[in-house]
Amino acid sequence: MKKVIIIAALSSLAFNAQATEISADQQEARNIVKEFGGQLVPALKGAMQAGGPVAAIDVCNTKAPAIAKGLSDKHAPWQVNRVSLKPRGATATPDAWESSTLKWFEQQIAEGADPKTLEKFEIVKIDGKETTRYMKPVMTAGLCLTCHGTANQIPAGVKTKLAELYPNDRAINYSEGQVRGAFSFQK
Ligand code: HEC
Repeated sequence: MKKVIIIAALSSLAFNAQATEISADQQEARNIVKEFGGQLVPALKGAMQAGGPVAAIDVCNTKAPAIAKGLSDKHAPWQVNRVSLKPRGATATPDAWESSTLKWFEQQIAEGADPKTLEKFEIVKIDGKETTRYMKPVMTAGLCLTCHGTANQIPAGVKTKLAELYPNDRAINYSEGQVRGAFSFQK
């Protein structure tokens, strides 16, 4: 009888330990989202105000990948990236898990989910190896349409610069309130 109780106590401990570990990872991923947005959004807004949208493209083109790299180093082994179903950046093309999660986000939001609290945390097996994955949607705001909106919303200078930097750009024709893409982290 005693044995049974001990085993039950041990297995509930093991279960709790695992549950805590998972939520610590999820919490860390949430913190990385805050840091990423906290560095990128002010840099983008500042550059838009100071130099206009053409100059601000440089922030997205060089600073966004640099922030992702800095956060990957700081929070190793997490790999920090952004992805989209209509990618622009060199590393923004989603893999299968990311594509299905982006579609799931769109569906959830269409059904009334709050994008602010929507996220996906999952441990998946990739090539036989357990990988911890986290995604959080990035929504399109009015400010974003200068570079991600329809042809008549994007100034001519921005179009020219985007075409130079991203000949295969697909990240246009968005409207406010749509899922532009997502933060995507894995380790
Ligand atoms: C000044 C132009 C500009 C503005 C304004 C802008 N973006 Fe971007 N965005 C870019 C560029 C350029 C890239 C590609 C970055 C790279 O090369 O990694 C990009 C990439 C992204 C990505 C990564 C996925 C992808 O397709 O590469 C997301 C997500 C994103 N933008 C969301 C937003 C959101 C949300 C806003 C509004 C808050 C916004 N952007 C405003 C120019 C802009």
